[in-house]
Amino acid sequence: MHQDISEVLYSEAQIQAKVQELGQQITADYQGKHLLLLGTLKGAVPFIADLARAIELPLELDYMAVASYGNSTHSSGVVRILKDLEGPIDNKHILIIEDIIDSGLTLAYLVDVIRRRNPLSLRICTLLYKERTRLKEVPVDYTGFTIPDKFVVGYGLDYSQYYRNLPYIGILKPSVYEGTEPEEQHSSPAETQAI
Ligand code: XMP
Ligand code: MG
Repeated sequence: MHQDISEVLYSEAQIQAKVQELGQQITADYQGKHLLLLGTLKGAVPFIADLARAIELPLELDYMAVASYGNSTHSSGVVRILKDLEGPIDNKHILIIEDIIDSGLTLAYLVDVIRRRNPLSLRICTLLYKERTRLKEVPVDYTGFTIPDKFVVGYGLDYSQYYRNLPYIGILKPSVYEGTEPEEQHSSPAETQAI
């Protein structure tokens, strides 16, 4: 185990088993539909890569990147699109693929943007769902794991862009990010990649 991780929450095998389960559910639910998996860069990349291969349907993949003003461990909900979808979606069923829902602010913004483009349907699939009071409630259709309110990394999830390549999901030792919190009080907060 990496020295900065205090506990492994889900091993590589546990993640793969869950991804297969979600893939089968999605396969059953989208029979005969024109499905587009909308992945959120960068955190959801390992998840969407595995999930897409667990779905036995013809489908399209596309990605959006958004940045949120905040510090490395908390998003603020003030969001800007860095990379948009390649084309219109009004003839497609959209399934947003998220790595994690924490405050819900980032996803609420994304859902708002996508709804205005009138997709045939819009659902949300997240690998991780944090147990906490959400600032914005968003209805989630497919959830991998519900996790405690701790900062986690691995399998796409980062702290300051690192740890995304860990094959498991683990709790990051608070000592790694403690002392960085005063950044929050700067008058012009740094823009960080939120998802
Ligand atoms: P919100 O609060 O808007 O957060 O739901 C969504 C984005 O914030 C990041 N995030 C995390 N990243 N470990 C991470 O590596 C975490 O525990 C965590 N919680 C939130 C993530 O980028 C997510 O898409
Ligand atoms: Mg992140």
